[in-house]
Order: sequence, then structure tokens, then C-alpha cells
Amino acid sequence: MTKKIRCLISAGPTREWIDPVRFVSNPSTGKMGYALAEEAVARGFEVDLVSGPVSLSAPPGARVHHVVTAAEMEKKMKELFEKAHLVIMAAAVCDHRPKRQWREKLKKDDFPKDFEWVKNNDIVQGLSAARKNGQKIIGFAAETTNSMAHAVEKLASKGLDWIALNEVSREGSGFASDFNDVTLLSRAGETIALGRDTKKKTARKILERVWP
Ligand code: CTP
Repeated sequence: MTKKIRCLISAGPTREWIDPVRFVSNPSTGKMGYALAEEAVARGFEVDLVSGPVSLSAPPGARVHHVVTAAEMEKKMKELFEKAHLVIMAAAVCDHRPKRQWREKLKKDDFPKDFEWVKNNDIVQGLSAARKNGQKIIGFAAETTNSMAHAVEKLASKGLDWIALNEVSREGSGFASDFNDVTLLSRAGETIALGRDTKKKTARKILERVWP
């Protein structure tokens, strides 16, 4: 029997806590990552889905690992990375966390006027630095301006095989939408516009390209 392809996917936002009742996050709903997980299962892959807080149900056939913060997502991704053949980092990871997390709820009059921030580790960059032969790593680029230039830079600096450029400010695609308009860029210099389509079909097109 041939060995199953193991696919590790991240999805959704992370939350960075200020106190027990407040956090910083972003509008990611996880739809793109969950669509990728569903499509990877349909292709016969063994799928681990590391998910930030979203309101989607688990894609049948995928193992879902729930996390909340960027640090938790990093830990779980590292744990599952070694056995993965294909990694798709679709999560919208918060780049920063508040330097201080209060253990008790802050009363509104004590709420700080300024926050100090600490940078979270770049999860996908860390994974690509630790990769072994044959592992493929795909990232996403969420952009609003100078999109192509930023995506090309991220493809190189994060050591990715492919990056899926996502214009998040475009009407009718991106965050929370059921549609997306992705351009795939490869390390080898290919540029493939997938066109505006449902996230489900976009997921299929991405997998067909990155794991033919
Ligand atoms: N990413 C990650 N860890 C982080 C931040 C981002 O693994 N701490 C991953 C995302 O999951 C995505 C890729 O890096 O696959 C690009 O994320 P994006 O938010 O577009 O870019 P950033 O690296 O955060 O850079 P910037 O905010 O300056 O655009």
C-alpha cells in the first residue's frame, strides 16, 4: 500500500489576550483554510487542521486541533510539522501580542491609554527554516497595496514554495467572503491567476497546482 500524503493546514485568526475578557484579533473566518482541508481530504490526503477560533464545523475526515493564540498555533504546527509532506499556512496569525496580559479584568477607568507590543514569531518562516527534503510549504499573503511586490518578498523571505496572494481589500473577496481572488506565485517564478471563484473551487485549484 502506498503511504498517504500528510497535509498540515492552518486556518482562522489568532487571538492575543489583554485581560480575561479582551483580546486583539482580525476578521479571518477560517473559510479558506477549512475549504483547503476539505479538498485535501477529498484528494485522499491525511489532514491535520490547526484552527484558530472560528464558527465552522470540522471538515469530515480531517483531524482538527483547536488553538487560540499565535504561540499555541506555533507550538501545534511545530509538533505536527515533522510528519507533514505538505504544509499550507492559511491562518491569519496576529503579528503582535500585548507585552502585558492582565490576569484580572481591567476596570474601564484603569484601561491603559497606550500598549506595548511584542512581536510574535513568524510561524511559517520557522517551519521553512527547519524543513527537510521533500516537504512543501505554501503561504498566503494578505495585502491591500503593492500586493505583488509584497507577495514576492514574502515568498522569498519566508522560504516558501508557493504563495497565494489574496487582495483582502477587494470588494466581494477575501476575509469572511465565500469567494476569493487568488494569484499563485511560485519560487520557480510562475505567476498563475486563479480568477475570482468560490473558496471551495479556489482550494481545489490551489491543491492541483501545489501538489499535482
Ligand atoms: N504568518 C505566520 N506567522 C506570523 C505571521 C504570518 O506564519 N506571525 C504567515 C501567514 O499565515 C501567511 C504568511 O505568513 O501564510 C503571510 O502572512 P501576512 O499576514 O500576509 O504577512 P506578514 O508576515 O504578517 O507581514 P505583514 O503584516 O507585514 O504584511
